[in-house]
Amino acid sequence: MAKTKPFVSDIENIRKRARQDIDRGAMTAGYSADRETVIKLLNHALATELVCVLRYKYHYYMAAGINSQAIRAEFLEHANEEQGHADQIAERITQLEGKPNLSPEGLLSRSHSDYVEGEDIVDMIKEDLVAERIAIDSYRDMIAYIGADDPTTRRMLEGILAVEEEHAEDMNTLLEQLGRKGEPARPAPMRQAAEQPGGTRKRG
Ligand SMILES: [Fe+2]
Ligand SMILES: [Fe+2]
Repeated sequence: MAKTKPFVSDIENIRKRARQDIDRGAMTAGYSADRETVIKLLNHALATELVCVLRYKYHYYMAAGINSQAIRAEFLEHANEEQGHADQIAERITQLEGKPNLSPEGLLSRSHSDYVEGEDIVDMIKEDLVAERIAIDSYRDMIAYIGADDPTTRRMLEGILAVEEEHAEDMNTLLEQLGRKGEPARPAPMRQAAEQPGGTRKRG
């Protein structure tokens, strides 16, 4: 027996509401997410992406050793992709009538991932892998929180999550190629706890 699910939409009411507050652009009365919290979450994600850009860029410039061209190319590609994520997130924040927080002050404490320079190429790759793994879990949590309340933000985050998973796999492959897969990462650096919307700070 096929299950039936009637589609109910009050189009008259939608038409009426669309004419009110037209200055709010894409933000309509039907937006059911907690906008303030979504903006805060996105600003944490934005900080995470910017810290990832800086870390990958640092690794790109510092990994100048012999036979590291392929690894450097990977670092640069990831840096550019993290910048692309930062741009997508900042754009979405403005659509939600928020302000993207691009202030360098407190950037690291707003970020979920750490900025670790790493002592050699293996260390760098491990730190990037750790950062990606933190990003993956924090994007998953954000996607679960948003659920069906803001499909556009959720889809954007799902797209970014898929790329972070690829990034983590890329780093894992590099470690494998270097014969260093499965080695433990260094303990997490000490850092200040930053205020997280709606709860305690969670570390990946
Ligand atoms: Fe990213
Ligand atoms: Fe990434």
